[in-house]
Amino acid sequence: MSNPFYQKDILSIKDFSKSDLSLLFSTVNKIESLEFEERTKICREKVLANLFYEGSTRTKLSFETAMLHIGGNIIGFQDTKGTAIDKGETLSDTIKVVDGYSDAIILRHPTEGAARFAAEIAEKPLINGGSGSEEHPTQAMVDLYTIIAEKKEIDGLNIALVGDLKYGRTVYSLLYGLAKYSPNIFLVAPPQLKIRNEIHNDLDNKIKMVEIDDVESIIDKLDVMYVTRIQKERVPDPAEYEKVKGSYIIDNKLVENAKDSLMILHPLPRVGEIKSEIDNTKYAKYFEQAHNGKKLRASLLSLMLNEEAI
Ligand code: NCD
Repeated sequence: MSNPFYQKDILSIKDFSKSDLSLLFSTVNKIESLEFEERTKICREKVLANLFYEGSTRTKLSFETAMLHIGGNIIGFQDTKGTAIDKGETLSDTIKVVDGYSDAIILRHPTEGAARFAAEIAEKPLINGGSGSEEHPTQAMVDLYTIIAEKKEIDGLNIALVGDLKYGRTVYSLLYGLAKYSPNIFLVAPPQLKIRNEIHNDLDNKIKMVEIDDVESIIDKLDVMYVTRIQKERVPDPAEYEKVKGSYIIDNKLVENAKDSLMILHPLPRVGEIKSEIDNTKYAKYFEQAHNGKKLRASLLSLMLNEEAI
C-alpha cells in the first residue's frame, strides 16, 4: 500500500480515510515491536520543529518523546517569550526560517486558520497541533486509536461526547474521525455549548447523533464517555462561562449504573469535570490515552518522514 502520510501536511482529520487511519494504527504496533537499534533508525538525523504559540503539555511533550523514540531530534519553543516573535516577527517569516532548519513542523496557534496558512508557506510537512477552536487532528487520531486498541472496533459502540462541544477543537476533529465509522453518538452539552451548525450540516446524514441534556439517562448504555473541559479562554463572554462551568461532573455516583466495560476518556487538561475519585476505577482510561499520544505520534512521524511504511 502506498503511504498516504508521506510528506503530507496534517491539517485536518477530514483529509484521511478510514484505511489511512488503519495504516497509522497498525504502524504503532510495528514500531513498538522493533528492537532499539531498528526503532531509532526510523527518524535518525531528522529534525522536528515544535512551534507552540499557545500552551501545551501533552501535545508538545508527546511529539517530543515520539521523535526521540524513533531516533529523531527536536527544536522549538513553548512560549514566544525570548523569540523574535516578541520583537514583532510575523508567523510567515518564522515559518520560512524554521522550514530551513527542520524536516517537519508542528504549529499550535490560538487563531483559526493559522495552520492552513503556515502550511502554504512551509515546504516541509506541517502538523496542526491545534488551531483555535478549529481542529486538533492528531488528538483525534490518538482518541480513535485508544478506542480501537481497547474495543477492537468502533462500529456499533455507544459513545457520548460530554461538555464543551462548541469551542473544543478535539471534539470537532473527533466527530469527523468517528464519522468514518458507524458508532451511535450522544452529544451532551449545555444549550450554549452544543455542536456548531457546520457539524450538523456535514455529518447529520453520515452518522447517528442524538443531542441530550444529561448523562444520567444514558450512562448504562455507554461504551465510551469522552469528557471535555469548558474552553474558558474561547467562550467570548465571561458571564456565559460562569453560567456553564461545572455543568457536568463525572463522579463515582454517576458511574454506579455504568457497564463494566465503560471507558472514560478526556483529552486533558481536566479542570474539575472528572473527579479524582474516578482515577482509580476501571473506567478511567484518560492517562492511558495521553500515553498513547507518544506511540501514535511516533507512528505518524515515521510515516510522514519515510516513504516506505514499516
Ligand atoms: C486539548 C487542546 O489543547 O485542545 N488538549 C490536548 O491537546 N490534549 C484540550 C483542551 O485544551 O481542553
